[in-house]
Amino acid sequence: MNDTMLKRENDSRERKNEMEKQDVFNYEIPRRLVGRVAIVTGGGHGIGKACVLRLAKEGARVVIAELDATAASKVVTNLMEEGYDALAVPADVADEANMQRMAKQAIEAFGRIDILVNNAAMVITVPISRLPFDEIDPDEWDRVMRVNLKGMWLASRAVVPQMRKQRYGKIVNIGSGTAFIGRAERIHYVTSKAGVIGFTRSLARALGKDGITVNCVAPGGTLSEENPDEDTIKRRESVIAMRAIARVERPEDIVGAVAFFASPDSDFITGQSLLVNGGDFMQ
Ligand SMILES: NC(=O)c1ccc[n+]([C@@H]2O[C@H](COP(=O)([O-])OP(=O)(O)OC[C@H]3O[C@@H](n4cnc5c(N)ncnc54)[C@H](O)[C@@H]3O)[C@@H](O)[C@H]2O)c1
Repeated sequence: MNDTMLKRENDSRERKNEMEKQDVFNYEIPRRLVGRVAIVTGGGHGIGKACVLRLAKEGARVVIAELDATAASKVVTNLMEEGYDALAVPADVADEANMQRMAKQAIEAFGRIDILVNNAAMVITVPISRLPFDEIDPDEWDRVMRVNLKGMWLASRAVVPQMRKQRYGKIVNIGSGTAFIGRAERIHYVTSKAGVIGFTRSLARALGKDGITVNCVAPGGTLSEENPDEDTIKRRESVIAMRAIARVERPEDIVGAVAFFASPDSDFITGQSLLVNGGDFMQ
């Protein structure tokens, strides 16, 4: 490793340490979800993993439906070591049979399904290209739509029969701030996330009579990468100047909004999209 590379690595490590020192997430967590069962798709990494931990701390038993089976069982093992109840279900959200099995296993293990966090997406762990709109491979476009959008529909369809039986359910879809402002690159990703807003509104109208709320949480650019390199950190830092709350967004910034929409505190709120972005874009 030459001197420049060494310096970059040290700078990047220092910046990470600095962020870890900001103790912004040290507050008492309410226990609004005792007795509830939550499914988080893509809960093995990043924002989904942070949501799993928050929902468990609020009292829910949590099912992690993940493509990355190793990551999911690691999160479950850690949770169980801390005394929480959790289950890993290796699954592809784009596969209808997998989603039906996810719901079946959740009911077999925990007897009910109260919360679905539709978080899984092709974005970081399963990467996508950052190409201009006319250079995206049409197969990649289809895959992104299948996972990011159709996956939400398949997961929702699988859990709604149980929620209807209970006459209670909370569906929280993870969107993205990019859908509100547009972006010249990754147009397939942004389009899939714009679809999440319409999906949320329509499903909310379809399920209100069943006592099920459907809402969307739209994060801003978030440092959710587990081992970010220098370029990633720079990209995440580049939006700081636009934010009213001028710092890097982290997965823990998003979990409060997700837990709110998963809790009875939001029982009269449905079809809404909440931007969690430190005020970089306001609506
Ligand atoms: N990180 C950001 O800047 C950002 C910004 C706005 C919105 N989001 C959204 O937040 C959510 C989480 O993103 P993240 O930043 O934690 O990225 P991530 O890639 O780490 O998380 C996505 C998770 O989904 C899983 N996954 C991917 N394809 C799957 C499939 N077919 N079936 C099941 N699981 C699958 C991955 O293994 C991963 O655990 C996504 O919906 C993303 O679009 C992220």
